[in-house]
Amino acid sequence: MNILILGSGGREHTLAWKIAQSPKLSKLYVAPGNAGTSQLAQNVAIAGDDFKAIKEFVVENAIEMVVVGPEDPLVKGVHDFFLSDKDLNQVGVIGPEKLAATLEGSKQFAKEFMMRHNIPTAAYQSFTSKDLEEGYRFLESLQPPYVLKADGLAAGKGVLILKDLEEAKKQLRAMLLEAKFGNASTTVVIEEFLDGIELSCFVLTDGESYKILPEAKDYKRIGEGDTGLNTGGMGAISPVPFADGAFMQKVEERIVKPTVDGLKKDKIPYQGFIFIGLIKVGDEPKVIEYNVRMGDPETEVVFPRIKNDLLTVFEAVGNKTLKDVTLEIDERIAVTVMTVSAGYPEAYGKGKEITGLDAIGNSLVFHAGTTEKDGKIVTNGGRVISITSYGENTEEALAKSYDSLKDFHFEGMYYRKDIGFDL
Ligand code: AMP
Ligand code: GLY
Repeated sequence: MNILILGSGGREHTLAWKIAQSPKLSKLYVAPGNAGTSQLAQNVAIAGDDFKAIKEFVVENAIEMVVVGPEDPLVKGVHDFFLSDKDLNQVGVIGPEKLAATLEGSKQFAKEFMMRHNIPTAAYQSFTSKDLEEGYRFLESLQPPYVLKADGLAAGKGVLILKDLEEAKKQLRAMLLEAKFGNASTTVVIEEFLDGIELSCFVLTDGESYKILPEAKDYKRIGEGDTGLNTGGMGAISPVPFADGAFMQKVEERIVKPTVDGLKKDKIPYQGFIFIGLIKVGDEPKVIEYNVRMGDPETEVVFPRIKNDLLTVFEAVGNKTLKDVTLEIDERIAVTVMTVSAGYPEAYGKGKEITGLDAIGNSLVFHAGTTEKDGKIVTNGGRVISITSYGENTEEALAKSYDSLKDFHFEGMYYRKDIGFDL
């Protein structure tokens, strides 16, 4: 099969690495890809939302399946575009249609979905500019801290957690009346604060049945001890020790099954990954959010633990025969540590030469923001390279990744030295 992956991060490099191992693969392309994907596949200079250019490329290169990495093309309707075009409607797309992508694109839509299907989540109400006063009254009825969420996509910045009631009111006003997050905050969801520990649950569905992939924990803050600004993710670990069998059973019965059944009942077609952001409150799982894609850097630990041929699994999604697939999971622990550019997640430089990558033998190297320039590999983003290692236990896996990190370098390289510290 000829395969096209859309995206350019560590998630897409990991998917490319896994797909490149498939005996069913003929030719692999990544658009736009990075310096890591170019070692396994052919990079193509097409943006994920340039549907016209994607169509031309798919037709010319007899692509049989498109695997969509990030949410943006899904929210913009890339799957619908394929289905509605007679030249493309036989091409498989891994990633849901626009309607389902609204689960990530609108917090209010996701909340209504969970309420309708009795899926445990934080209590909430949503508000627009005309009901600002009611928003204030609702805030007054809650205990601090206050959780305010822009309804739409706000580049991961649209959630505010505030301790002070007056500050919460001020921010609600800024979101609703002053477009603090642009159109994304035309509607604001105010939620009950949930106190617990977070983890990421991943589901692959063909719309009929589902498979639960290994769960993972992501380290979101830039600073050690989980301090400082939020990032895309500074590291991840799988499996998650506090997500034991009894807990994951609850996740499946109360969250995963009702989610897949709810999609069916609501006639929302879905072929692809569902990333369920969970919080464990006491012993109970609750949903923080849905994403309609894999997580990054969670992908860098989840896929290294899946032993199956990924194209066989993806074909089953396309044929709606996923129920016949048995996932084989590597029992070992996988951890990944992300290196980032100086300044990230705020302003950072690009184009710094990366040296010493060849010396890394004990770990898997997944590129995120990298590119090639004059025959050299240079930085090209905030998150640069993630180093994944296996171990019989967390300590062993972490020791390998941290050891591998000694071998390579770029100017301003930073990484957290405490991934897995809390486990
Ligand atoms: P979201 O974009 O919905 O994933 O929210 C971003 C982050 O805010 C989450 O990863 C949580 O750490 C936090 N968060 C969101 N909703 C809540 C909530 N109801 N209670 C506590 N923390 C929350
Ligand atoms: N690591 C979190 C995300 O991909 O959204």
